[in-house]
Formats: sequence, structure tokens, C-alpha cells
Amino acid sequence: MMKEETRSTILITGGAGFIGSNLSEYFLSKGYKVVCLDNFATGHRHNLKDFINNPNYRLIEGDIRNAADCANAVKGVDYVLHQAALGSVPRSINDPVTTNDVNVSGFLNMLVAATDAKVKRFVYAASSSTYGDSVGLPKVEDVIGKPLSPYAITKYVNELYAEIFSKTYGLETIGLRYFNVFGRKQDPKGAYAAVIPKFVMQLMQHESPVINGDGNYSRDFTYIDNVIQMNELAITTTNELAVNTVYNTAFGDRNTLNNLVNYLKEFLSKYDPEIANVAIEYGPNRAGDIPHSLASIDKAKELLAYDPKFSLQQGLEEAVDWYWNNLR
Ligand SMILES: NC(=O)c1ccc[n+]([C@@H]2O[C@H](COP(=O)([O-])OP(=O)(O)OC[C@H]3O[C@@H](n4cnc5c(N)ncnc54)[C@H](O)[C@@H]3O)[C@@H](O)[C@H]2O)c1
Repeated sequence: MMKEETRSTILITGGAGFIGSNLSEYFLSKGYKVVCLDNFATGHRHNLKDFINNPNYRLIEGDIRNAADCANAVKGVDYVLHQAALGSVPRSINDPVTTNDVNVSGFLNMLVAATDAKVKRFVYAASSSTYGDSVGLPKVEDVIGKPLSPYAITKYVNELYAEIFSKTYGLETIGLRYFNVFGRKQDPKGAYAAVIPKFVMQLMQHESPVINGDGNYSRDFTYIDNVIQMNELAITTTNELAVNTVYNTAFGDRNTLNNLVNYLKEFLSKYDPEIANVAIEYGPNRAGDIPHSLASIDKAKELLAYDPKFSLQQGLEEAVDWYWNNLR
């Protein structure tokens, strides 16, 4: 007999994006029904090709800035995994108004829709950027600094709204503060591409990646499968103490940008030995960037029994293999 949970319906906003499409694929494989709401602002149809015809999958093309689209999407839904947003610190510096419209007003629309539809739980993509200028390492959930970018403000406002909706309307929420997520399907193209897919594409084409700064900035790079695990734990936990709060979503280790590029060259040169000889270039530091980032994952371990399986190296080997076979 099917377990109760396997018949549940999950709405994944931003489901055509990197994280959302990976979540969709995973939860469909577990027998859930998945509804996707996306306006394809930064998502892609090719991310959906492996499951678009799955009878348990439904795509709604719509915009979270439109309250009617949100209300339509949450109909009959048990859980929301809210991923839709405009990512990228530089994008938010270039266009803070659009970032705010999507990430704050859109988020609020989704909270209202989820509350009205009485969903069981609203899990959302928060961000490590909320730690802002706090200098202590590792980052623990209760100690944040001042935001360093418009994007960081929007992600912090999400947490504030979620808390108020839990307290005021009884909506169960869990925020997942993602730390530099990477893996299959992450978009390597465009001005706002994330560093790992961008560098992988450049190295595959024997172009020199440009590191902002001296390469000693560090990040808690987090493989997508660890993020999927956190999302699954967030919707399945029955621990009452585990809801209406936020969690660092990371591996719990940090690597410098120089380390990262060295791993990429090492792993890619197994496919093409010439890549070992591609030179690295260095440019100026970028506005809004946090120098160092490392998560404490103790809270997730304790309250959600989180047990991340992929270190940076383990995740990179899989990611590089995927890029080599899919995007070359
Ligand atoms: N990738 C990371 O390292 C990282 C780190 C911290 C937080 N996050 C957050 O995780 C979430 C997913 O990020 P991602 O890396 O998959 O990015 P992504 O750009 O690949 O996915 C975002 C998706 O949201 C959709 N979207 C954007 N505006 C929309 C709108 N107005 N209405 C409906 N859909 C809209 C896009 O089309 C896209 O499919 C975002 O909320 C992001 O802020 C990501």
C-alpha cells in the first residue's frame, strides 16, 4: 500500500529553475504529485524535459507577482516548496526594484495564497546572504549581521514575513538558508551565472576563468542532493520544535575559490587533459560579496536529523560529469 505522504501534492514555485527542477524530479520519483509555477524569467524548458510528460506533473506558467496565479497554483496542494525568486547579488544591485517585486511582493503573495488554501506547510528558499556583515564563523542561525545587498534584504524580509505568518495566521513555515548551491542543471550562461557552472563551461572551452579578488574568499559550497535532503526533511518532519524557524542548508565545510578552481581543473582534466594547463585570471573584488561563509549545520542535524552526503569534492565530481555529458 502507498504511504500517505507519497500521495501528497507539492507546489514547487520556480520549478523550472536549477533547484526547483531538481526538487521536482526527486519528489516525482518518490511518488508525490508535483505542480510547478514558473514564469521562465531565469528557468528553462529543457530543465523539465525528463518529467514534463509524467502524469503526476503539472506545469502552470504564471508569475508570483500576480496574486491570482498564486491562488490558482496552491489549489489542492499539501506542501509548498517556494523557490521562485530573482537570484544574484549583482542583478539586485543593477535592478533593485524588480528584485524586490519578485522576491518580496511575490513572496508575500505566495504566503497569502498558501494561508488561504490551508496548506500543511510552507517551506521556502532563504539565503546565507542574510548573514550579511556578521564576521563570526561558523554562521549560526540566531546571529546575523546587516545585509550587504538589495538581494540580501529581500531574503531577510522573507524570513520576517514567514515568522509573522506563522504567528498571526498559524501557517507552518520552514526557511532553508541555502549556502552556494551547485550541481546538475545549474545555468552556466548569462551575466548572472553562478561561479561553478560558469567556470566549468569556461574550462571546457579552454577559456581562463576570472576569480573576483585574490581567490582566498571562501564558501560553504553545497551540492544539490544535500539541498534536496533538507527540503524532504522540512516537509516530512513531525517534530513540533522543528517548524516555524530557519535552517542553514549547507555541507558545513568551506573552500576558497582557489581550491574550487583547482578541483574543477583536476576533475575536468580526466575528460580532457589540456584543461590542466588553462591559466586562471584574477580581477577586482565584487560589491556585496561576503568574504567568508561557513555554516554551522548543528541545528538541522539536531532538529531534522540532517545528514549531508556530499562534500564539495564528491558533488563536483558528479556535477562535472553531468556538465561534460550534457553541455559540451
Ligand atoms: N543557487 C544558490 O546558490 C542559492 C543560494 C541561496 C538561495 N537561493 C534561492 O533558491 C531559489 C532557487 O534558486 P536557483 O538557484 O534555482 O535559481 P534559478 O534562477 O535557477 O531558479 C529560480 C526560478 O524562479 C523562476 N521565477 C523567477 N521570477 C519568477 C516570478 N516572478 N514568477 C514565477 N517564477 C519566477 C525562474 O524562472 C526560475 O525558474 C531562489 O529563491 C534563490 O534566491 C539559491
